[in-house]
Amino acid sequence: MKTLKGRLTILADNVVAGKNEGLGEHGFSVYVETEKGNFLFDTGRGKTIVHNAIVFNKDLKALKKIVISHGHADHTGGLPEVLRFHHRIDVMGHLDIFLDRFRKDDEGHRNYGGIPYQKGFLEKAGANFVFNEDPVEIEQGLFLTGEVPRQTPFESGDMGNRFGIREGKVVPEIILDDQSMVIQTAKGILIVLGCAHSGTINMIDHAIQITGVDRIFGIVGGTHLDFSGDEQLEKTIQALRAYRIEHLIPAHCTGISVAARLYREFKGIFQFSRVGKVVEF
Ligand SMILES: [Fe+2]
Ligand SMILES: [Fe+2]
Repeated sequence: MKTLKGRLTILADNVVAGKNEGLGEHGFSVYVETEKGNFLFDTGRGKTIVHNAIVFNKDLKALKKIVISHGHADHTGGLPEVLRFHHRIDVMGHLDIFLDRFRKDDEGHRNYGGIPYQKGFLEKAGANFVFNEDPVEIEQGLFLTGEVPRQTPFESGDMGNRFGIREGKVVPEIILDDQSMVIQTAKGILIVLGCAHSGTINMIDHAIQITGVDRIFGIVGGTHLDFSGDEQLEKTIQALRAYRIEHLIPAHCTGISVAARLYREFKGIFQFSRVGKVVEF
């Protein structure tokens, strides 16, 4: 089994802390450095990625590929900013990152909730899209999960009000494009979540199934637990106890109050995420 060594640095997140010049926004992005090259996982909303890359000394030119976890604007909005540094670069993601999607407000108005740029515009800016639905090994030891089987009965939170337009028809939307990056390290797998709309536990189980490794070095990223209701939170906490996890670093859409709760529940393995946070692996 090939394992990778390297580090990841959070370049966009909701929280800033400590003495640095980093900026926060509701979005997420991680710069992943490995001996097989550097990869960018998500791009944040677009207001902070370039600034934070300079502050934390991460070269956006030195990327081998860009990976998009799902089409929401807080993960894709910075794509044009990053593409400025490239003539042409592979951008990996699920085809549904371009799904026309919306949520309805209380008066029934549609609020567009998809990627804020058209595919042709991004291609012109240098993106070479590579789509996947199934798991793919981008480099030996570096995986993208593909679509995540929804297996737990309790991870359906925050799904009721989402719609997509497929072949002209409005259909319920479950964010099939949601996928994570999984890095095989010498200490187990490191799972990098976007928003985990498919469920943090579903995602962990899928990552274990893809790699055949059940030792979890770390979980980093958005869990969406801030928006998923109390039942999902309680059951996720219970379920998390069954895994061997060394570092639990929930970020972004986990929210501050849920992060504080997880800190109390998982003392010893929990770390607060923030812009500039580094995880060595
Ligand atoms: Fe998000
Ligand atoms: Fe999202």
